[in-house]
Amino acid sequence: MAKQKEMQLALQMVSGYGGEFSAWRMTGTDPAAYTNMDSYVERAKLAEKGKFQMIFIADTPALPNDLGAQTPMFPMDPMLALLSVARETEKIGLVATLSTTFNYPYNLARQFKALDVISHGRVGWNAVTTSDPSAASNFGAQPLSRKERYAMAHESIQIVQALWGSWEEDAWTLDTKGGKFADMAKIQPINLKGQYYASSGPLPIPPSEQGQPVIFQAGGGYEGLELAGRYASGVYANPYDIASAREHRQALRESAVRFGRNPDDIKMYAGFMFSIGATEEEGLERRRKLMSFNPEEIPSRVSYLGTMVGLRLSVHTVDIDQPLPDDLLERAYASPQDPRSPRALELLKKGLSIRDVLAHGVINYHPVVAGTAVQVADFLEEWFLAGATDGFSVVPDIAYDGVADFVEQVVPILQERGLFHKEYEGKTLRENMGVPYQYGSAETK
Ligand SMILES: Cc1cc2nc3c(=O)[nH]c(=O)nc-3n(C[C@H](O)[C@H](O)[C@H](O)COP(=O)(O)O)c2cc1C
Repeated sequence: MAKQKEMQLALQMVSGYGGEFSAWRMTGTDPAAYTNMDSYVERAKLAEKGKFQMIFIADTPALPNDLGAQTPMFPMDPMLALLSVARETEKIGLVATLSTTFNYPYNLARQFKALDVISHGRVGWNAVTTSDPSAASNFGAQPLSRKERYAMAHESIQIVQALWGSWEEDAWTLDTKGGKFADMAKIQPINLKGQYYASSGPLPIPPSEQGQPVIFQAGGGYEGLELAGRYASGVYANPYDIASAREHRQALRESAVRFGRNPDDIKMYAGFMFSIGATEEEGLERRRKLMSFNPEEIPSRVSYLGTMVGLRLSVHTVDIDQPLPDDLLERAYASPQDPRSPRALELLKKGLSIRDVLAHGVINYHPVVAGTAVQVADFLEEWFLAGATDGFSVVPDIAYDGVADFVEQVVPILQERGLFHKEYEGKTLRENMGVPYQYGSAETK
């Protein structure tokens, strides 16, 4: 019998605390986890115990949030965080985001390849174009148009891949008897020059066990699809429902085909957040508690929830610990401006209090399940079996116990249902993602 196709899992490390910015205040969390690499290593080891295909780090080179009350959104430095993890783990993949707009391709190629060699072939690069103006200003630059950012991204990835392939696979001879460290005839310049970037190469780094790092992509629009279809083996996406996820996955697969690739060689990972409790009420209580740390945010959240359902809502005019009054509910509709609106409306119509609707995470960056491990597994199963995604990029609410809960409670359910592998397929990220070996530029493969 053909092996049942299984989902893949990536664990998002965020800044060490979890996806909720008040998680640092929860009992048990190390409030300084941001700078404590042992905490990253511990979470990564747990994820490896749970056979996660990879850990994933998003990154923007800026400080966009208010550290008065919240934790940073990203690690101090994604590559150094992954290096700490690489030395303490064996199988799990290590994927970091670095911008194609604000890094020279040579630096990108060197850092990722070095980490790939150090980790024995477990590294992926999430190549993003970074539209955030605060990142641009950190480099003395003005925000660029999408067209320009993506033109730079194509050049960047092409140069990076060429640099990765600048050593032939058998160039590193290590011939101690003959005194030949490497065969320089097999280590050649690349001499690429584009409109934005250029590099002569070669890179001073030999091949890794998987040849070279795996390319990931996260970004929007037609340009994003083209970039992914051409180069990426993994895509981090943020759909809110099954229909839009399927559409996005299908578009990615079609884009890969346009570039002469097998559509199964591009895997989509949908972002997903969870709060696990022994009961649904316990899962929700975790989130109420997290929300309670930042009461000053409630008025703006209530007002935003109102715009999602076409109403003017204010903490001064409604009791947020009560369901939405019937007269307002009758007028409510899901705003087409925000794809999260149907879920918000559904929960309001169920008669949940406004506070609990917010606690369910209807304004979060990804879909949220607050409930039991079975409810979390059901959600993942439904999306996966509907063909909405190849896997999930999961974000725990609170990292210190959320990762363990997922690994100990959700993973066994998925495995029992035949939806998730029980052992790593191989040692490298490519093997564990089931994507082909690649060396050098995509075009010359
Ligand atoms: C799911 C997702 C995750 C992203 N993660 C990052 C990130 O970690 N760092 C970053 O600089 N940009 C990130 N981006 C942003 C893109 O690089 C880009 O700036 C954004 O999508 C807006 O521009 P675009 O629609 O032209 O791609 C992400 C985009 C998406 C859709």
